[in-house]
Amino acid sequence: MQHVRFACQGDGCGASKVKIIGINGSPRIGGNADILLDKALEGARSVGAETEKVILNTLKIVPCQECENLKDDGSCIIEDDMQGLYRKILEADAVIVASPVFFGSITAQTKIMIDRFQCLWRAKFILKKNIVKKEKVGAFISVEASNREDFFVNSRSIVKNFFAVIDANYREEILCRGIDEKGRVLERLDCLEKVFELGVKVASSVKQNQDQKGEGS
Ligand SMILES: Cc1cc2nc3c(=O)[nH]c(=O)nc-3n(C[C@H](O)[C@H](O)[C@H](O)COP(=O)(O)O)c2cc1C
Repeated sequence: MQHVRFACQGDGCGASKVKIIGINGSPRIGGNADILLDKALEGARSVGAETEKVILNTLKIVPCQECENLKDDGSCIIEDDMQGLYRKILEADAVIVASPVFFGSITAQTKIMIDRFQCLWRAKFILKKNIVKKEKVGAFISVEASNREDFFVNSRSIVKNFFAVIDANYREEILCRGIDEKGRVLERLDCLEKVFELGVKVASSVKQNQDQKGEGS
């Protein structure tokens, strides 16, 4: 499949306006989810997107404390690395979450991050406040050792819930089965190709949305 780089006309050419954040929820740096995410981001960059990868396991993020003195502006009162991550996620045009299957679900690192969006969930669904200003594209990448579809069903459902809170439309997913040892996914060209394509599609969807709204360069 051929892809055309985003056309750039007028001032500001060269400065890509499509910002994609990739979130790796695996504790294994250089592991399968990490490799797949890198490939997806490479795909996004190949069509001109600006990308950033965040490795949750390197951040200090405490689990949600169900605080009762919540602010009404959707922000969280816990001062840790989530504060920077909230900003990055809210500013992004697309969010790609990558998590391996751990005990039939996403990893603890991924779930802890998602739970910390309870403050935004409350603002959006209880207080009916429009905190997220930018509609996003969302995509999910997962990998498991087994061949069980139900594990992905659980994981997908949680990620979809998260995306609903940050106004990300769940557009793409790649779920790779039968991969266990660290880095083994490098032998799975099918997964690598699909995930590169996921990155291209995510970036292209954002660009299409921007063009429809008359935004972008
Ligand atoms: C704590 C733990 C739990 C796991 N649970 C499952 C599971 O429920 N089903 C499965 O198919 N694989 C499971 N696996 C295997 C991982 O999904 C698999 O090794 C994956 O490739 C790891 O990706 P990573 O290299 O990105 O961490 C588990 C691995 C660990 C360490």
